[in-house]
Amino acid sequence: MKNVKISLSIICFLTLSAFIFLQAGAQSLKSDPALDEKVRNFLNSQNRRWYDMNVPASDGRLLHDIIVKNNYKSALEIGTSTGHSGIWIAWALSKTGGKLITIEIDPGRHRAAVENFRQAGLSDYIDARLADAHQLVKELKGPFDFVFSDADKEWYKNYFIDIDPKLKVGGCFSAHNVYERGRGYGGYGGQAEFLAYVRSLPNYETTVNSSGGGVSISYKKADK
Ligand SMILES: C[S@@+](CC[C@H](N)C(=O)[O-])C[C@H]1O[C@@H](n2cnc3c(N)ncnc32)[C@H](O)[C@@H]1O
Repeated sequence: MKNVKISLSIICFLTLSAFIFLQAGAQSLKSDPALDEKVRNFLNSQNRRWYDMNVPASDGRLLHDIIVKNNYKSALEIGTSTGHSGIWIAWALSKTGGKLITIEIDPGRHRAAVENFRQAGLSDYIDARLADAHQLVKELKGPFDFVFSDADKEWYKNYFIDIDPKLKVGGCFSAHNVYERGRGYGGYGGQAEFLAYVRSLPNYETTVNSSGGGVSISYKKADK
């Protein structure tokens, strides 16, 4: 009987601690209902109108939720296109108080993205760069706690190698069109090579979410 009481006390204590911890996390998020409504309205108005190799909305939400859950603040996106994933990422950062650098090489898509960010009300949370990511990723100082790689797939491993020293421990490196099974394990050439590489590193834990377009999610657990 005494043991049962002690066990119950421990369970109550752990439950209460978890509750307080989650509450503290939730309270540190910024609340801006007007901005949330603006972003939601913009996304609804564009529903099924993302024609420029953009991620599906479910993947956008996935990235958003990873950022909010981990309270990430310093994000990098490689491959802006017209800004669909960037909007989801920046929306999350508007809640954590962070900022996104996003890189696009095509001037037309970069221009369209900047306009979409403005219409969504998220310009303050985004630094949109028109540049070749092969070069700029090397130059950016970081540190980052969240990265989304969605540009040229054959360069995925190189992007990762350049970013790894600038990714904080506890941070997350995600990449699009990466598959766990089929389509050549990890996807075509570059994605498969990247997935095999990141999985070979003992300080990263990688899963693949296949509910949308295939998103690899690699958490950095230690420096090496
Ligand atoms: C799949 S799309 C990105 C979609 C975007 N993440 C979204 O969901 O809205 C890939 C983009 O990467 C860009 N890209 C390809 N190579 C690049 C490079 N070396 N530097 C910067 N952008 C590049 C392409 O021009 C293209 O717009």
